[in-house]
Amino acid sequence: MASSFPSTSELVADARRLYGQVFGEEAPLTAVCAPGRVNLIGEHTDYNQGLVLPMALPLLTVVVGHETSGQDVTVVTATKDADEPWRVDFSLASDESLCPGLPSWANYVKGVIQHYRAPPVPGFRAVIASSVPLGGGLSSSASLEVAFYTFLQQLKPDDGDKVSKAIACQQAEHTHAGVPCGIMDQFVSVLGREGHALLIDCRSLEATPIPLADPSLIILITNSNVRHSLTGSEYPMRRRQCEEAACILGKASLRDATMKDLEEARNRLDDITYRRARHVIEEIERTYQGTEALKRGAYKEFGKLMVESHNSLRDLYEVSCSELDELVSAAMDVEGVFGSRMTGGGFGGCTVTLMKAHAIDRAILHIKTRYSGTPTFFVTTPSAGARTLSLP
Ligand code: GLA
Repeated sequence: MASSFPSTSELVADARRLYGQVFGEEAPLTAVCAPGRVNLIGEHTDYNQGLVLPMALPLLTVVVGHETSGQDVTVVTATKDADEPWRVDFSLASDESLCPGLPSWANYVKGVIQHYRAPPVPGFRAVIASSVPLGGGLSSSASLEVAFYTFLQQLKPDDGDKVSKAIACQQAEHTHAGVPCGIMDQFVSVLGREGHALLIDCRSLEATPIPLADPSLIILITNSNVRHSLTGSEYPMRRRQCEEAACILGKASLRDATMKDLEEARNRLDDITYRRARHVIEEIERTYQGTEALKRGAYKEFGKLMVESHNSLRDLYEVSCSELDELVSAAMDVEGVFGSRMTGGGFGGCTVTLMKAHAIDRAILHIKTRYSGTPTFFVTTPSAGARTLSLP
C-alpha cells in the first residue's frame, strides 16, 4: 500500500493546534502553503541553464501565523524530524539574528527574511507544519522557503513577481543553507500548476505547463529512505565541473554546447569532465524530447527517456547509489511500468516511476519484495504552487 499523507486542511489543523498551545488563546490570522516537487526528467541541468520538467506535489509545507507590533519573531516547527530546538526566538532589530546557525531548519526562515523583496518585515509569530519528507529529495527545503516567503507576502506585500520570488528563495538556500542549487525547486514550488508538469527553461526562466492528468496513468514516488552524506560535497563539485567544461568549450554554459562541440574538444577535457558535460548536454535534449512525447501521450517513449536519464546519472554523472539503482530496476520488472529514474540531487532520496494505473498494486508489492531496504510509496498528482489558505 502507498503511504497516505495528511491533507492540506489536516496540516493547517495541526499547525493551528500547536499555535494555540505555544501562544495561548491568540488565533493565527494567516495560513499559506507551498509544495515539494518531483522532477520527471532534466536532472542536474538547471544550473547549466538547461531544461527541467518537474511537477509540484500534494506534499507541502504550511505556515500559519500572526503579525506582532514589535520586531520580535518566534517560529515553531511541528516537524518532528527537524533538528531541535523546535522553537526559535529572535529580534529583527539585530542584523546578527539572521546569520545562519542552529537549528538548521530555522536557517531557511532567516534566509527568506534576509532576501525578502520588500524589507523590512514586521515582527511575527508563526508555526510550520509539513508533509514533505525531510531530506527525501522532494524539496522539503524549497517548500519551506517558498511557504515562508508567501507568509511574509501576507504581512507586507512585495510587487508579486513570481519569478523574482523563486530567485529570492533560491538565494536563501545559497546563503543560509550553503547549497549552490539551481532554480528548479523554488520555481516549481512557486509556479506549479494543478494537472500539469512544468517545462522550465532555466536560461530564459520561462515556464510552459504540460498537461499531465490522464486518469489511466500513475506517478509513483518511492522513497529509498536512505540519504548518503556525499550530497553536501558532491553537488558543488558537479557544478564546478560543469562550469569548467563550459569554459573549456568556450561557452557561457553547457546549454549552449552541442555533442559535436564536446566531441571536438574531447582531447582538451579529462575523462570525468567529459562525462559530466555529456550527461548535461544529452539530458537537456532528453528533456526536450520527453516533453514532446508527453504532449503526444507517448508514455512508452517518455518512459524510455526516463531510464536513459537514470543510466546517465548513474554512469556519467555518478550521482546515483545502489539503493536507487535497485528501486529503478525493480520497477522496470513490472508490466505496465513505462519508466523509472532517480529524482533530485541523488545519493539517496526518491525515484519517480510512470506507469499504467492498474499496475500500481503489483508494482508496490514487487518493489517491496526486491528492495533490500524499507521503501515508502506516494501516489501523487501534479498540484498547484504556493497559495494562501482560508482559515475556518
Ligand atoms: C537539487 C537542486 C536543484 C537541482 C537538482 C538536480 O534538487 O536543488 O536545483 O539541481 O538537485 O537536478
